[in-house]
Parts: sequence; C-alpha cells; structure tokens
Amino acid sequence: MIAMDSQAKPRVLISRRQIAAAVSRLAAQINNDYRGKYPVLVAVLKGSFVFLADLIRRLDLPLKVEFVRLSSYRQGRQSSGKVRVVHGLDIEVKGRDVLVVDDIVDTGLTTSFLLDYLRRQQPSSIKVCALTSKPSRRELAVTIDYLGFTIPDKFIVGYGLDWDEKFRHLPDICIVEEE
Ligand code: PRP
Repeated sequence: MIAMDSQAKPRVLISRRQIAAAVSRLAAQINNDYRGKYPVLVAVLKGSFVFLADLIRRLDLPLKVEFVRLSSYRQGRQSSGKVRVVHGLDIEVKGRDVLVVDDIVDTGLTTSFLLDYLRRQQPSSIKVCALTSKPSRRELAVTIDYLGFTIPDKFIVGYGLDWDEKFRHLPDICIVEEE
C-alpha cells in the first residue's frame, strides 16, 4: 500500500485519447440498445462524475440522470465488505430502464449492493456501464454490460478517480507509484 505522505507520482496508463475513443464506443452501443427508450442513468458518486459528463454528451436519447453516494468502509485499498447508502435515489425507478454508471468495478461489492438496492424498486431493466474493471480484485461476480477498459491490479487515479481525494482532475487515467 502507498503511504499517504509518500512522493507518489501519477504515470499515464490510459490516455485522454484512448478514454475518448472508449466513451464514444460505449455511447454508440448504448444509443443502439436504448433506441426508443428513456433510461435513467444512475451514477455512483463521486468517481463517476467525469465519465458521466462525457458519456451523456454522446448519448442521443432522452434520459434522466440521478446520483447515489455509497460508502464501502474502505481502509486504504481494503474493503470491509460492507456498503451503506450515504445518499440514495431521489426518484422511483419502478418500471424504468436503469443504467448504472460507475468509473470502476473493483471488488464488485459496490455494484452488487447497488444492483440489489435498485432491484427492490422493480425497474423494468437494469444494466451496468463501467469505464474500468479490475477483475483480479473481484470478490463478488458482477456483469458489466458496457465496459471501457480491463485494467491490471494497480492503483489508478485521474478522470474522476482519486487517491485520498487527490488527482480526480487529471485528464488521463494514471497509475500511482512510489518514486
Ligand atoms: C469507487 C468507485 C466505485 C467503487 C468500486 O468509489 O467509484 O463506486 O469504488 O469499488 P468496489 O468494486 O471495490 O466496491 P470509492 O468508494 O473510491 O468512492 P469515490 O467514488 O467517492 O472516490
């Protein structure tokens, strides 16, 4: 684990050009699959906000955007296995087509919890769009319907992703390594 006071320097893993190409690809798939529908995009704060902002501007659909904030009682990189709702949905999604948008699926605990939480409201469909996935860290199986990148088990920041709230503003997805 990287110490908080270390001289960690981000190194580009996925460039802004690669991200833009992936966002376009995902948006094209979503446009195609949701043609004639009016989905509710449920984005998971905070990390997803940059991805969501780029993605929705490439969607040619009527849509709603809603946010949830979840907490996974993380200690550094380790998840305790417990997720709780910090800010839940402000609307009912019963009978709606719901698309969950997140920046990363890591252990899968957050996505699994959110899918269970949303299913209780009986949406007519529910799918997951994630910019990145670390399958090597998975603890709970999650189906990702729209995936940007499979990434190695490295700590990544940028494009919304943080390390102790730092680096969310970086335009590329970067690996943080100690010098
Ligand atoms: C990140 C990310 C996902 C979650 C995935 O959020 O945005 O929601 O972790 O991890 P998991 O698959 O192991 O559950 P984080 O808890 O870091 O909060 P943040 O988005 O506010 O930075």
